[in-house]
Parts: sequence; structure tokens; C-alpha cells
Amino acid sequence: MKSTSDFHYHSIEKDWRLRRHMSTTPESTVLKIENVPAEDSSPAGGLISIWTVNRPNKLNALNAEVNTAIKSACAWAESNDDVRVVVITGAAPETPPEGKRAKPNSFVAGADISEFQGMSSVEIRPIFDDNVWEYVWNLSKPTIAMVDGFALGGGSEIALSCDLRIATARSNFGTPEINLGLIPGGGGTQRLCRLLGYGRAMEMVMSGEMVNGEEAHRIGLVNHLVEPEALRSKTMEIAQGLASKSPHTIRIAKAAVRAALENPFSAGILAERDLFCALFDTEDMAIGVKAFLNREKAEWTGA
Ligand code: COA
Repeated sequence: MKSTSDFHYHSIEKDWRLRRHMSTTPESTVLKIENVPAEDSSPAGGLISIWTVNRPNKLNALNAEVNTAIKSACAWAESNDDVRVVVITGAAPETPPEGKRAKPNSFVAGADISEFQGMSSVEIRPIFDDNVWEYVWNLSKPTIAMVDGFALGGGSEIALSCDLRIATARSNFGTPEINLGLIPGGGGTQRLCRLLGYGRAMEMVMSGEMVNGEEAHRIGLVNHLVEPEALRSKTMEIAQGLASKSPHTIRIAKAAVRAALENPFSAGILAERDLFCALFDTEDMAIGVKAFLNREKAEWTGA
């Protein structure tokens, strides 16, 4: 495929950390990976990969093991053409032992605070220089956070690193790091500003207060608010829709919208134009236009 500008391929070039090839689905007890067939995908064989952070007794907090597993899953998803959409969620609470109270529902209740104890800036720095949130953010494929419960600190930042957020009313989003003598470190200050605007972001970061699912939906933090029993079906309906698009075109669409975050307005307009024009050299544009005019279903090649 020909490119009409430097912007195009430079800006959507894969993050170097995601380039390593992994042919088999990584396995981990702290990150369950379920691959569901994308029903209407072309090229055929598309998958929706659902990743469940699985530490329900610690409200799915992100410890080093979870972070490593998510990074491996990102590298695998990026290098596997069959993966069309990634969904990230948290494990449901387990049935408590007799006489004990049940743990609350949680997406991810943050970075594992126990790993912070006694750490210096020199020790924490490498972990945050090669952080899990950038891996998720840098995936070129559509990503959806499926949230039922606490999405706090690093957990809210996983949700913010996804393209879409689908949540239940009983969810709570927040950046409570201020209460630990910290601030968000996984991109929360920046991504909240871009998504919600300066005023709301400032209030959430400074107060550390949580925003419930309904409020999160009202202010645009959440794309869709659903009942708990409909969370998976609504998420899959949206994922299936995204997985039915041309995998190449959807990657370019994501890059074009992201250009709005990286560029001044006029440069972003030009970036979009470059990407739009370059698509005229793709097979899938020819296929899509022909299918429309012939009233047929487009069968994408992904090229
Ligand atoms: N890191 C490590 N452990 C965590 C955790 C985190 N971010 N969030 C919850 N847990 C653990 C608790 O220590 C507890 O473990 P235990 O049962 O072995 O003692 C378990 O998960 C259940 O949490 P608990 O606090 O008992 O549940 P709760 O219903 O009383 O409160 C929260 C729920 C979410 C309000 C509370 O757990 C909380 O404030 N968590 C920390 C959120 C946070 O600050 N995140 C940002 C981190 S940078």
C-alpha cells in the first residue's frame, strides 16, 4: 500500500514493545484470556479477546504479576492478526467463607498498594517507565473496558487507556492516590483532562472522590451504562460490531482520532486528511465502495 505522507505511517507505527511476536495465547492465573469468535469478521477467523484480571480477593489490584501478564497479552494481541478487539474486565467476587463478608465487585481497585511500601523514586521509576497503561493505550486494535465495580487509581487508568468504557451503575471510578500521598502515575491526570475536561479532572485528582456509574455516564467517562446482567452481552454486541469492520481501516480510524490528542487542531485536520487519502490506495476501500454500490456485504481483506 502506498502512503501519501510521512505522518501516516510514522504516527501509527507500532510501539516497539508491542512488536515482539508471540504465536500462542499467554497463560496466567492472574489474567484469564478467553477468545470468542468474531461472528461477522472478514478476513474470517477473527477473535474478540476477553482478558479478566483475576485477583478477586484483592479487588483485582495490579501487582507485578498482573502487569507482566497484561503486557504479554498486549504483545500477543498486537502480533496476532486474528485478534480484532480486546475487552478488559475484572473477576467477580468469590463466594466468601462461612461467616465472612463478601468482597465488593471490582474492575481493578488500583495498583497493588502493598508493593509501594518502602520504595524510593529510583526503584519505582523503571516500573513506571515501562508501564502497563502504555501497553494497553498503544494497542492498535479497538479496546473496551467492561467495568462492574471499583475502577480506582491504576484501575481507572486501565479503563482510561481503553478506547471505550461500558459500566454498571454500581461501578465507582476514582483517582484516590491523593489519600496515599500520591498522584495518578499511569496517565490518569492527562487522560482524564482529555476525556472529561480540565475542571472535572482537577476535582477528581485533588479530592480523590469517587464518581459512581451513573455520574460517570453523565459526564462522558463511560460510553454505555448497563444493568449488571446485561454487561457482557452489551459489551459483546459492541465488540462484535467493531470486529466486523475492516481490521486495517479500523486501525487507521483509531489513529486518526488519536491524532486529535497529539496535535494542534490544524495539524490534526491535516493528519486526518493524510490518513483519509491514503485509504484510497487500499483494497478494503475499493471493496467497501463496490459493495455499497452493488448492495452487497463487504468482505474485507484487511489490506
Ligand atoms: N492494593 C492492594 N490491595 C487492595 C487494593 C489495592 N489497591 N484495594 C483493595 N485491596 C485489598 C484490601 O487490602 C483487602 O485485602 P484483605 O482482605 O487481604 O485485607 C481486599 O482487597 C478487599 O478490600 P477492602 O478494603 O477490605 O474492601 P472494602 O469494601 O472495605 O473497600 C475499597 C473497598 C475499594 C474502597 C478499598 O479497598 C480501597 O480503598 N482500596 C484502595 C483503592 C486505592 O487507593 N487505589 C489506588 C491505588 S494507587
